[in-house]
Order: sequence, then structure tokens, then C-alpha cells
Amino acid sequence: MENKKRIMSGMRPTGRLHLGHYFGVLKNWVDLQEKYESYFFIADWHALTTKYNQTDDLKDNVKNVLLDWLASGIDPDKSIIYLQSFVPETAMLHIYLSMITPKNWVERDPTLKDLAKIMKDKQENMSNLSYGLFGYPVLMTADILSFNTHFVPVGIDQVAHVELTRDIARRFNNIYKSEYFVEPQPLLTKISLMKGLDGNKMGKSFHNDIKISDSEEVTEKKIKTGITDRNRIRKDDKGNPDNCEVIFGYWQIFGSENDVKEVCDGCKNATMGCAQCKQKLAQKVNETLRPIREKRMQYENNEKLIREILYDGSQKARKKAKEVLDGAIDVIKMYK
Ligand code: TRP
Ligand code: SF4
Repeated sequence: MENKKRIMSGMRPTGRLHLGHYFGVLKNWVDLQEKYESYFFIADWHALTTKYNQTDDLKDNVKNVLLDWLASGIDPDKSIIYLQSFVPETAMLHIYLSMITPKNWVERDPTLKDLAKIMKDKQENMSNLSYGLFGYPVLMTADILSFNTHFVPVGIDQVAHVELTRDIARRFNNIYKSEYFVEPQPLLTKISLMKGLDGNKMGKSFHNDIKISDSEEVTEKKIKTGITDRNRIRKDDKGNPDNCEVIFGYWQIFGSENDVKEVCDGCKNATMGCAQCKQKLAQKVNETLRPIREKRMQYENNEKLIREILYDGSQKARKKAKEVLDGAIDVIKMYK
């Protein structure tokens, strides 16, 4: 582990994850954990920045995210998996970083600007924005700097936050005349190829997703609702897979080259109807997900084990975060 570069990334505990998460994020993490010393965390404090008054599902959501990660192949023997609130050192680092971060650096954060717009549209007062939510980019900075992380695998929407993290790291180093913090770089993740069943971005709130943990029956039912080539109304109409972004798109993810060719021919020549095409696709999807779902089930039935994984990972994360925090405290010249 010693001379590997470090990466860290996290997700809010939003509940059961879908295939957009799997193909967009998790598969990438599973690959990265081979090459980097990896920290992956469930951002429960970040969840509170907006959902402080909706905590009834929080425990379950943490558990479900953890189960989906483990099922997808995030391996506790290779990566450090932790819960943010189990690593108080991050909160302590956050205090020190908050002192040196100019207020206007936080104000220009694009996510907060978006949020301000949403609140305005909802006719909510911007002054209802909590102190914690306002400071969320600095908390994210503390997450990242807690391990003196070299790279942060994120989607394009989070790059501005990593830039802010670099700015804060640099400012810290300048103020305290040190080279203490590494300036981390974003490791851009490709946007997920998975569209939602209705053709929009796959998302929980759009009710167009397939969950990693859905049963085979539910998966099949959902796939039946997927949109297809609009011009193909009857079975003997010839179709065009290029106009069938969702179902044919899924075939490209789940099918072999040969499968894709067969579907393409069957569609264009009207020898295969959409119902049959979807049926076959559902089988393919279920086959691919079967080992992941079986693994999830095993963990699900072993509450003690998943608890242990989260506790152990958090202990390891704390050890490193404490080392980094103690160093920062020295550099700042706090009394000790
Ligand atoms: N802000 C990220 C999101 O909303 C989650 C997150 C919090 C994160 N801290 C992080 C991601 C640190 C990467 C690194 O998706
Ligand atoms: Fe799409 Fe398959 Fe129907 Fe062709 S046959 S339009 S690829 S669902």
C-alpha cells in the first residue's frame, strides 16, 4: 500500500442504488481500487446538509448503500470503506480549514448557486439556507484533505469542488509557509451510458431506474415499460435501433457483439418484435446482475459482518485522518 497514490470519493446515503450508479461510478471504483490506496465513504453528514429534518430513513439508507457497494465489488480488503460521521477527525480539520477559507470562495460555488436558484423558484428564502449547507464545499474539502489525497474520482458536476479544494490546500500552504497539503486532482469519470427507462437521465426521483437490488421479476416488468423506436407501432413495421436509445442502448451495455448484431437485424427486418426484444434483454440483464444480487443477499443476511466492515474501515480511515490532522495542527502552531 505504501507507495501507491491515494484516491478518495464518496456518495450521499440516498438509499438503494441503481444501474446508473453501477455503470457510472461503482464499476470505475472497483477498477481503481486495484491501482490506488482507496478511501470510499458514505457521506452521512452531507446528507444532513439538506435532509436534516428527514432522518427516519437515514440508517437504512446507509446500510443499503453499503450493501450495493459490497455487492458491486468494492472490496474491504482492498479499499478503506468508511462512514463520514465515524471519522470525527474530518470535522476537526474542517474547523481549521473554515478559518482560512474566504467567504466569497464558498459563495461562488456553482452547486450553491444552483441551489439558490431552486430555492428562489420554490419561493423559499435564501436565508433559510443553513450554515452547514453553505459550508458544504469546505466540508468536502476536509473529506478530501483528511487523507492528503492525490486524486478524486468524480463526475463533471463535482469538479468545481475539487478545484476549490486545491485552492484551499494552496492557501493553507501559503499562509503557514509549508507544503503540507497535496493539491488533489479530479479524476474525471465518464458519464454513465445508462439512460432511464423513459429516455431521461436515470434517477431515483424520476421513477425510471432499475435498482441493483431489484428482483428479476421487477427488472423484467420495468424493462417492459422502456421506450422504443416510436415509429415502430406494429410488429411487422420495420424498426430502427438508432431510434431506440433506451432498449437498444441497454443491449449495447449488456449484450455481446453478436447479441447486438442479432437484435439489430431482427429489428430492422421486423423478424423480432419489441416485446420479444425486451424479454430477451431482461434475461440478459438479470443474468449479468445475478452474481451481484446474490452477493448482496449474502451480506444482507449478515448484519454483523457489514457492521464490522464499516467499523473496521472507519477505524483505518481515522488512523490516517488523525495523522494528517495532527500534522496540520503542528503546521498551524497550535499549543500542544
Ligand atoms: N459532494 C459529493 C456529491 O454530492 C459527495 C462528496 C462529499 C464527495 N465529499 C466528497 C465526493 C469528497 C468526492 C470526494 O456527490
Ligand atoms: Fe428497440 Fe428492440 Fe423494438 Fe428494435 S425491436 S425498436 S431495438 S425494442
